[in-house]
Amino acid sequence: MNLHVVILAAGQGTRMRSSLPKVLHPVAGKPMLEHVIDSARALLPQGIHVVIGHGAERVRQTLDAADLNWVLQSEQLGTGHAVAQALPHINDADQVLVLYGDVPLLQVETLRALVEQAGSQALGMLTVLMQDPTGYGRIIRDQSGQVQAIVEQKDASAEQLLINEGNTGIMVLPGSQAAGWLSSLSNNNAQGEYYLTDVVALAVSQAVPVQVAQAGDELEVMGANNRQQLAVLERGWQCREAERLMTQGASLADPARLDVRGEVSIGRDISIDVNVILEGRVVIEDDVIIGPHCVIKDSVIKSGSVIKAFSHLEGAEVGADCDVGPYARLRPGTVLHTGAKVGNFVETKKTVVGAGSKINHLSYVGDAEVGRNANIGAGTITCNYDGVNKFVTRIGDGAFIGSNTALVAPVAVGNQATTAAGSTITQDIPDATLAVARARQRNVEGWKRPVKQAKPE
Ligand code: UD1
Ligand code: CA
Repeated sequence: MNLHVVILAAGQGTRMRSSLPKVLHPVAGKPMLEHVIDSARALLPQGIHVVIGHGAERVRQTLDAADLNWVLQSEQLGTGHAVAQALPHINDADQVLVLYGDVPLLQVETLRALVEQAGSQALGMLTVLMQDPTGYGRIIRDQSGQVQAIVEQKDASAEQLLINEGNTGIMVLPGSQAAGWLSSLSNNNAQGEYYLTDVVALAVSQAVPVQVAQAGDELEVMGANNRQQLAVLERGWQCREAERLMTQGASLADPARLDVRGEVSIGRDISIDVNVILEGRVVIEDDVIIGPHCVIKDSVIKSGSVIKAFSHLEGAEVGADCDVGPYARLRPGTVLHTGAKVGNFVETKKTVVGAGSKINHLSYVGDAEVGRNANIGAGTITCNYDGVNKFVTRIGDGAFIGSNTALVAPVAVGNQATTAAGSTITQDIPDATLAVARARQRNVEGWKRPVKQAKPE
């Protein structure tokens, strides 16, 4: 049996009131459609056909990949018409799974179960019991509980509107029936559209078996038609991630105040305070503590490190037992070795900080190599840029950079070397040497401050 997935993503999404096509609106930092494509991929199907129409070029450019077949539906004549556009790619022996591009929380296991239950001969459909089914197609069953049809909200009678079993829209069609069914749909209904949902009544009339699975969770099958629903889906996703992280060994100060926008893998006994955002690929090892209001993107934090409040990490690797923040900014290419400290209002970029070294306050260290156990004083700046080129600063093991030193790169500070506070270093400093590069102080004896004249009344 060959599985083909058809993902419907051509609709306009008028209620989003957006110039961005609906399916590109993000949930957890990723377009809704990409979530759906990822779920489809996990089923290892023969083909994934994405039906696009509104904003087709933008959708395709955003998500293009070798394993996707883009199918254009130039006029949006309904969900049945949309699936029909993919028919040229479907054979009789295939199974066709229909997904919607705006239903991002669907779980792969749910789909796998539905596909198995339907098999190659039956029509499979996924329904859900809903608190409020407004807007959804209603599942019509006979006295014996057999499904007879789906009736859309706008076509339903007052009595049918009371039914709280809704159509998720997710369906499995036997390839042998798909073409026949889709070509016999009519648009004689309240919306003047070719409804995919009408294939259910067709199957029943032809005595083709209908297999119904019910989704356990309303949120899992919810589509986003407006920004309110998008926000509900976002929270739903975040809840699920928070649950997962807690199950794996993270303590969350408040599961509702963590946002994960990417793939996070964690060790055990991690503690995450409120309002933390984890983005991209983030790896957090055992015993790491993350303080409140941190943003951590594409970074690795090794065991025992502490990231204090309001720190911002991107493309950084924090070694074991490091101490970062509060208010630290580690930019791409920052590598901290074991036990390093980067304190408040320190910015680093493309910089390797050796084990045990400290940059505790108010510094910019970019394009630099810092050895072990160096101490970089407050206000140190690497002058790494001449307006065109970037240059490297090297700081040796055990070096002591006095406060407010400007290191004009390219420049090297030797092992155990010291710079006097306030120095502007433009030449290399040999090992174990003090460099003083500042104007000498001059004291003016007997100097009188100007005195304010009393103003006449
Ligand atoms: C559809 C179902 C309804 C179900 C609901 C679940 C039909 C007729 N109705 O209604 O039973 O309860 O979803 O969310 O199927 N699309 C196209 N081309 C089109 C029309 C739609 O690609 O011509 C795409 C849309 O982009 C969207 C999906 O199909 O991803 C569903 O379309 P939408 O208009 O949202 O259907 P609903 O009215 O919500
Ligand atoms: Ca919808």
